[in-house]
Amino acid sequence: MKSLIVANWKMNPESAKEAKALFSAVKKGIAGLNKKIDVVMCPPYEYLGLLKGLILGAQNCFYEEKGAYTGEISALMLKNMGVEYVILGHSERRRMGETDEQINKKLVKAVQAGLTPILCVGEKKEDKDRGKKQEVLEAQIKQCLGGITADVVIAYEPVWAIGTGDNCGVDETKESIDFIRKFVKTGTRILYGGSVKSDNSGSYLKEAGANGLLVGGASLNAKEFIGIVKSAE
Ligand code: 13P
Repeated sequence: MKSLIVANWKMNPESAKEAKALFSAVKKGIAGLNKKIDVVMCPPYEYLGLLKGLILGAQNCFYEEKGAYTGEISALMLKNMGVEYVILGHSERRRMGETDEQINKKLVKAVQAGLTPILCVGEKKEDKDRGKKQEVLEAQIKQCLGGITADVVIAYEPVWAIGTGDNCGVDETKESIDFIRKFVKTGTRILYGGSVKSDNSGSYLKEAGANGLLVGGASLNAKEFIGIVKSAE
């Protein structure tokens, strides 16, 4: 199975100039790397049309096809501009009120449009402390994937590990990934995300059974991100 390394730039950087410079540096740094690695870049929407030469993903899409939905972008619009993946159900969006039901509707539209969804699931610190981690993961997966038969990518991102430097331990990650595997099709790629850096990335791929990584903060530093991609070689 090909490893999948995904850069989630979130709401960064502030200018197209910086976006192009970061993208070019990554492109140059990973040129000629093992063809067994897929690298997907997920910049903010407005930079998608400016960046060429690597696989692109979006960070969200809407669950209707077109019409009076001010500020929203459809899955088909993304597909029509050459985007191949879309991150859905990120905890930063769930925190703004996105529900499993809405995420499921987005997955349906993404699949219909021919995009590969990267569905994010993960427990909060309080879920873990109350011993509810597996219950939360199972509910998120079952509700978000309801009725979906197409191939999707799952990203296990414990909420407490995101942007905190407190990355999930390898054994704990393995346990969660093994648990998630019970609810998804054979061959589904399961990524780990949460404070991934070039000095911890390899352990998730080699020891925790992750098929790839979803990288936030470290993807804004070309050298770090290239190091992460190289750790998957
Ligand atoms: P960090 O790598 O900054 O912890 O973010 C992870 C993430 O949310 C990727 O989607």
